[in-house]
Amino acid sequence: MVELTKTGIDGLDEILNGGIVKNSTTLVSGNPGAGKSILGLQYIYNGVEQFDEKGVFLSFEENEQDLREAAESIGFENWGDHVEEGNIKIYDKKELLRENDFNSSLELLLGELDGDDYERLVLDSLTMFQLFFDSEREKRTYLLKFTDILSENNLTTLMTNEQGTVFPETDIGLENFLTDGNIFLLQTPTDSGVNRYAWVAKMRKKNIDTDIFPMEILEGNGITVHENASAFSMMNDNDSPL
Ligand SMILES: Nc1ncnc2c1ncn2[C@@H]1O[C@H](COP(=O)(O)OP(=O)(O)OP(=O)(O)O)[C@@H](O)[C@H]1O
Ligand SMILES: [Mg+2]
Repeated sequence: MVELTKTGIDGLDEILNGGIVKNSTTLVSGNPGAGKSILGLQYIYNGVEQFDEKGVFLSFEENEQDLREAAESIGFENWGDHVEEGNIKIYDKKELLRENDFNSSLELLLGELDGDDYERLVLDSLTMFQLFFDSEREKRTYLLKFTDILSENNLTTLMTNEQGTVFPETDIGLENFLTDGNIFLLQTPTDSGVNRYAWVAKMRKKNIDTDIFPMEILEGNGITVHENASAFSMMNDNDSPL
């Protein structure tokens, strides 16, 4: 039996058939505003709140205060307390770049992750992380080394990835193949706003539902994935008594 880590996100664990594979690395790809960072925040927050698992959030995009505000705005009201109590460990850009060279920062970070203190890790974003490497070869080698070390330290990891296109014949980055799982988030414009979708394209060692499911981002609740597409369209129907 493969051990699973539940995201605690309504609907997502169901389409994953229980959760993501423990100690694996899953890429969460999507275009700007698709909900990648929120999914990461929610995964870490749920870990602490629902499963008594501590988490690490690495952010190249936002500082600790921004992350807290984003988390609180979506309804994760205990985020700040968890950070203060050490249930959630934040490494923001400033922290990640505190050494003169990025490699030393990473060595330090990996040293601090050594042990069994944390179970979950989010890297937001892999796209930014990879900018610190000069060549494609260096990027990929480091990604493999990094994911191995995370796995050896029993961390179940989500890495966000900026990717505009979802069904490209030629444009799939190698990071999609180097990671164990692939979740795509998509948003498409509509007359009244956007429709959002989640698609689990890959999960090694695991049977998954590869259909595309509607999802929502709601204040107070974060992300919800709807297994039943018709339920979603009813909710969006302004004339509906529901
Ligand atoms: N408090 C909130 N309530 C409802 N929706 C929200 C809230 N906060 C953010 N959102 C929605 O989530 C979207 C942003 O999600 P998120 O920051 O996770 O995107 P992202 O995929 O990480 O984008 P980027 O690639 O720019 O980092 C916003 O565009 C907004 O529509
Ligand atoms: Mg983001």
